[in-house]
Amino acid sequence: MKFSLNIRISSVVSRSLFLTLLAVASSVAQTTQVFRLDGGNSTYAFGVNERGELQPLYWGGRLGARDTIPHAQSLPEVASFDSSHTTTPEEYAGWGAGLFTEPALKITFADGNRDLVLHFLRATQSGPQAVELQLKDISREIYVTLRYSIDADTGILARSADIENRDRQPVMIEQAAAAQWTLPPARYTLSYLTGRWAGEWTLNQEPIRGGARVIESRRGTTGHQANPWFAISRDESQAAVGAAFAGEEHGEVWFGALAWSGSWRIIVEHTQLDAVRVTGGFNPFDFGYKLKPGEHLETPVFYGGYSDHGLGGASRILHRFEIARILPQAPDPKPRPVIYNSWEATEFGVDEAGQMALAKKAASIGVDRFVMDDGWFGQRKDDHAGLGDWYVNSEKFPHGLKPLIDKVHSLGMDFGLWVEPEMVNPNSDLYRKHPDWVLNFPGRPRSESRNQLVLNLARPDVRDYVEGFLDKLLTENDIAFLKWDYNRNWSEPGWDQVPVDEQKRVYVEFIRNLYSILADLRKKHPKIEIESCSGGGGRVDLGVLRYTDEVWTSDNTDPFDRLSMQDGFTYAYTPQIMMAWVTDSPHWLNNKRSTSLTYRMLSSMQGSLGIGANLDHWTAEDFATAKKLIAAYHSAQPTIVRGDLYRLITPRDGSEFSATESVSTDKNHGVVFAFSNATQEGRYFPLLQLQGLDPDAEYQLTWIEGKSGPDTPESASGAWWMRHGLQLDLRGDFQAVAFRLDRQR
Ligand code: GLA
Repeated sequence: MKFSLNIRISSVVSRSLFLTLLAVASSVAQTTQVFRLDGGNSTYAFGVNERGELQPLYWGGRLGARDTIPHAQSLPEVASFDSSHTTTPEEYAGWGAGLFTEPALKITFADGNRDLVLHFLRATQSGPQAVELQLKDISREIYVTLRYSIDADTGILARSADIENRDRQPVMIEQAAAAQWTLPPARYTLSYLTGRWAGEWTLNQEPIRGGARVIESRRGTTGHQANPWFAISRDESQAAVGAAFAGEEHGEVWFGALAWSGSWRIIVEHTQLDAVRVTGGFNPFDFGYKLKPGEHLETPVFYGGYSDHGLGGASRILHRFEIARILPQAPDPKPRPVIYNSWEATEFGVDEAGQMALAKKAASIGVDRFVMDDGWFGQRKDDHAGLGDWYVNSEKFPHGLKPLIDKVHSLGMDFGLWVEPEMVNPNSDLYRKHPDWVLNFPGRPRSESRNQLVLNLARPDVRDYVEGFLDKLLTENDIAFLKWDYNRNWSEPGWDQVPVDEQKRVYVEFIRNLYSILADLRKKHPKIEIESCSGGGGRVDLGVLRYTDEVWTSDNTDPFDRLSMQDGFTYAYTPQIMMAWVTDSPHWLNNKRSTSLTYRMLSSMQGSLGIGANLDHWTAEDFATAKKLIAAYHSAQPTIVRGDLYRLITPRDGSEFSATESVSTDKNHGVVFAFSNATQEGRYFPLLQLQGLDPDAEYQLTWIEGKSGPDTPESASGAWWMRHGLQLDLRGDFQAVAFRLDRQR
């Protein structure tokens, strides 16, 4: 087979030119192409093998600019049971020929054919650091465009696929991944995040052994139960000589995050030849996307990156990328305003006088934004009614929202409001008028959760209704912020307005419409900021984060539980988006655990701070403590949420102690939080050796909370703080300290 030549041989590879398309003469009388992308500290390469398949060649630390990457060659058949088609890794494998491992794409054709073999057609450089490859089935008119672009700063690669049907007949896509990633045979450890409502962000780590590990959501949404992120660390036992153990700060790590807020799946396979293949995209469970002639299906983006500084390095790269490339205000998102939120204080019992009184108290401690939560609309007295009826409840707010908003503004804060746009209570005017608007199979039961049903956002009329009422709300009221909630998962996901063989498109169209509403609202109301909430952290992914500025981490605001949840969260997501409220003690969860306000504040100050306590119950001392710590937070916030995060001591696995450190990217400032959660036998806090500072700079220590021991200097070099370290006087249950280090010279 001859390949069309669309090759540029770069003679000078400048540091900013990260895409090099190299031509390599192969030993078999034909030209084989190798594609190479360089960014940050990493190189990614793949090529066309002698059969015409696109084959991964290298993913890892950055190679020399002039290094030659050997061209692709298919792997041999190892036995009659494992043909070359299944031993040879592909960048995007169709299910066909002799493939037994996970395919990227599986299609049923109108005539019953289910064999799909994708071969390389052409490559186009689509940007200075981007390339598009077109593949085509060996005989059918199915085209797949693979998109690659690498971020020059972080080396994070964005990959996606666009599947096009140019045939005369429709086809049914049964499985479509965004990308497949391959790692060569070695021993690896997989890290991934799981959880549940009020218990999100558990970091799991396990050896990758024979078989497959599936991480997924079948819920129509991202889900609390697993998050579309993975990291794979190379184990010590087979690391190259000189390489250190792949732990928190050492060793090689490959990681990925899928940008999709619908049902998703990431499958990590350990192949029969000990290689690792990761395939991620739309969840194939109950999937079926009919492509009519001329139609195409675009997959979500699967981001992948590499670090040789362990999981800590991997998460720092990802944080930087999210801030610079993903968030709506990228590359320079504003630090989140310190918010007050009414939910835990008043629940559904919001009214004008009560909210105004809370607002006054919130302003007195330095809060920037006042957010009224659930309960302000329709006939919403509890969670049995009102969702869908987005008019202001006139009993609670007889003059509309304006008097409250004006009051909040006069106190120097801006105003935010809770909404749950995709839901409806059967007890609502909207449902009585449009019972057909919800996801359902006609004639079958409609399962309620929290007394609510899911509106079918895939329907154009529902989509327009949702965008319409939100647009009106934002046009008529001076609202700076929406807390966009989503309090249940799908059930009975029927869509009977379209033909039977198109109904499963709901898995794609619903999410696309969600994204397009968010995009339209941001366009029409450029100042609006939005939080993605789903009963806590049920909708956190790089897809929704393109349109939302922050996320609600968990409904669990217990400050001790939050330490391990925040620890898990930051493996995948930046503290900039991690909303953390200080709420009342004793806490409603964990059998009314009691903690001091200082401990609660310091726990929350590691992310984007909020206050959710009932201020009507606070003492003068509480107000003074909160005011002092909010002021300290405001000045340290840029370092905390935008700096490099080091998880010095993990709170996981029942650790008595934990500590985090953030260092500004210019290394001028550091902020450290340390917690003693339940000491046993009077044990001392471990020696705290800091990281990431400039060893030659002099840093002055300032306590945010706590005090120096007799041996702690007021000022010392970065080398001293990192190598000698400090001994904190921190023992007992639920105790916390925090300090900053600021460069003197
Ligand atoms: C969800 C959110 C909470 C709160 C309630 C209101 O559970 O996560 O923060 O807004 O809904 O009903």
